[in-house]
Amino acid sequence: MAHDKLRVGLIGTGMICNIAHVPAWRALADQVEIVGAADVVAEHARGTAQAHGIPHWYDDPQRMLDELRPDIVSVSAPNSYHKPWTLAALAAGAHVLCEKPVATSYRDAVEMYAAADAAGRLLMVGQSLRFRSENQAAKSLAESGYLGDVYYAEAGAMRRRGVPTWGQFHMAEHSGGGPLYDIGVHALDLVLWLIGSPRVMAVSGVTYTKLANRDEGLVTSQADSGAPQGVPNARPYDYREFDVEDLGVGFLRLESGMTVVLRASWAANIPEGTGNTFILGTKAGMALGPLRIIGTLGAYQADTTPLVPDRNEPFATGHIREAAHFVRAIRGEEELSIKREEVLNVIHALEGLYRSAQTGAEVRLDW
Ligand SMILES: NC(=O)c1ccc[n+]([C@@H]2O[C@H](COP(=O)([O-])OP(=O)(O)OC[C@H]3O[C@@H](n4cnc5c(N)ncnc54)[C@H](O)[C@@H]3O)[C@@H](O)[C@H]2O)c1
Repeated sequence: MAHDKLRVGLIGTGMICNIAHVPAWRALADQVEIVGAADVVAEHARGTAQAHGIPHWYDDPQRMLDELRPDIVSVSAPNSYHKPWTLAALAAGAHVLCEKPVATSYRDAVEMYAAADAAGRLLMVGQSLRFRSENQAAKSLAESGYLGDVYYAEAGAMRRRGVPTWGQFHMAEHSGGGPLYDIGVHALDLVLWLIGSPRVMAVSGVTYTKLANRDEGLVTSQADSGAPQGVPNARPYDYREFDVEDLGVGFLRLESGMTVVLRASWAANIPEGTGNTFILGTKAGMALGPLRIIGTLGAYQADTTPLVPDRNEPFATGHIREAAHFVRAIRGEEELSIKREEVLNVIHALEGLYRSAQTGAEVRLDW
């Protein structure tokens, strides 16, 4: 069936917008068109529009919403601005694809979904890693019962040195938190999704700022910090602005009796690759990155590496599939696969970890 093209507006035209959101919408060129690019920094909006042939740019996202009335808005501003721009876009009648983490607090996230309900529009949070082939394979294996009874998991997002230095990630005012909100959110979302999204009932957390708030003089790369294709419009970085954690660790009790340990760091003195993610089941374990099943074969302990086609797919692949899924959901062809309860579960847990780190005590989550 032929459809009118959905008109997309971009808010927050930085790294991920240019590297992943624009390619994702462009991959759907027969179904959507990007009509506007907006940012509070005029250069970022103008540069993005010029680089990609987008007809309109704005240094005031609200004006874009008022003038263009897009059908879809991609929100990829820093975390603290996810909520206000999502609410504004919903009020202007748009469906919203909002970057992770949904917001900087559980209450804000609840409010955002309530606003989507009231507006009769869809809100989807961009947990783009779920759409990558290896993680899709992990999900299908986890769901098949292959692991037996799952009882424990570790979610790791540990970088040896990989502080994002191009934006405002390192500033609490703009990002709400450090690696727990930046990369811990991916790791926790993935693990909870794989084990069937049991509710998090209580969390105990600690955070440290030990390395990233000083000048180590080390040579690092943007790729190590999460921008493998570089950054078109980097903001100058000053380590003296660093006021979030550089390591966050959490112990999460789930309603099912399972437990999850979460570790997220941008700077830690560990060998590369030791921040791994795994799930323990009674029949087998599962490790991610790369995907392996840790089990037995007859009398022998044996590991299996599923050969997932396209497992080395490009960085933007998750976003490309995520945007295609969102359009199908808007068209009523699919249910949203990134569910409100899942997103709320993750942000409630992460915010609880920060509270626990402050108080030094376990925090029970009210549902
Ligand atoms: N899904 C993923 O894998 C992934 C990867 C990277 C980043 N992200 C998320 O995307 C968001 C942006 O990350 P980035 O790497 O593109 O950062 P960035 O700093 O490169 O881009 C952010 C842009 O937002 C603009 N901005 C700042 N304040 C604003 C405001 N109040 N209103 C509108 N725009 C504003 C900045 O000028 C900048 O152009 C973050 O929330 C981050 O967590 C997700």
